[in-house]
Amino acid sequence: MKVFTTIKDLKAALDTYRSAGESIGFVPTMGALHEGHLSLLRKCKEQNTISVVSIFVNPTQFNDKQDLTNYPRNFNKDCDLLIEEACDIVFAPEVTEMYPQEDTRQFDFGQMDQVMEGKHRPGHFNGVAQIVSKLFDAVEAHRAYFGQKDFQQLAIIRKLAELGKYSTEIIGCPIVREADGLAMSSRNMLLSAEHRNAAPRIYQTLQKAKQMVRSHAVSEITAMVKREVESCGLLRLEYFEIVQTDSLQTLSEITAEIPATACIAVFAGKVRLIDNLEFIPHKK
Ligand code: PAF
Repeated sequence: MKVFTTIKDLKAALDTYRSAGESIGFVPTMGALHEGHLSLLRKCKEQNTISVVSIFVNPTQFNDKQDLTNYPRNFNKDCDLLIEEACDIVFAPEVTEMYPQEDTRQFDFGQMDQVMEGKHRPGHFNGVAQIVSKLFDAVEAHRAYFGQKDFQQLAIIRKLAELGKYSTEIIGCPIVREADGLAMSSRNMLLSAEHRNAAPRIYQTLQKAKQMVRSHAVSEITAMVKREVESCGLLRLEYFEIVQTDSLQTLSEITAEIPATACIAVFAGKVRLIDNLEFIPHKK
């Protein structure tokens, strides 16, 4: 596995592979890798001949400085995991490499970044778009892989690829869960033992909410979610929204015709966890 820290060296290596007719798959990450990331890499390796994983904790997407400081980092362990998975290339730049000067670009995603994560983490998706566009320019991958756990991020990155006319195909991959249903996240390792025990309640509540879709109003489902999540005394609901799957518009009514996804953000102590569950699938 080759490790690059500069865009110049990465590009030079990738140009050689591209000229030799290799297909390049890209998995952008912020490190602290877990099975969810590895599932993206496995998909990437299935569909491409060269796999590139970036490890970069992107400061511009953290609206909370403390969150940035606390974000888990474990570069050596990440590299061991990637070697085991036979990853070809790791790109691990310093902040100064990706931001030699301040990035003042403002992206316009319309309503898509005004709801849910966008509303509660101002500037977050602009920061994501800044780094993902820089990484896309550096890697020029045939395909890039993102987890559906970050449901809104995936929709926004699809939009970014469309607006920026990137030739990189965006591939969304299913959420990977712990045995008790908790969605895998690098943040899970920051949970205390008691918050970790309480956290599976998030997915359990989403499943319960899905069962209510045919018989209850959205307001009743939302009230149940808040009650269920918070009744253990360890979790605090930040938001629960049922949105139109593609546009991310909030739905106040659910019908069988409109694809819908429920999204949730919960504080387990100081750790913020997100999850989602498709309620109404796209028609085949
Ligand atoms: O999902 C993530 O880990 C990050 O938001 C990403 C896409 C790597 C950009 O920093």
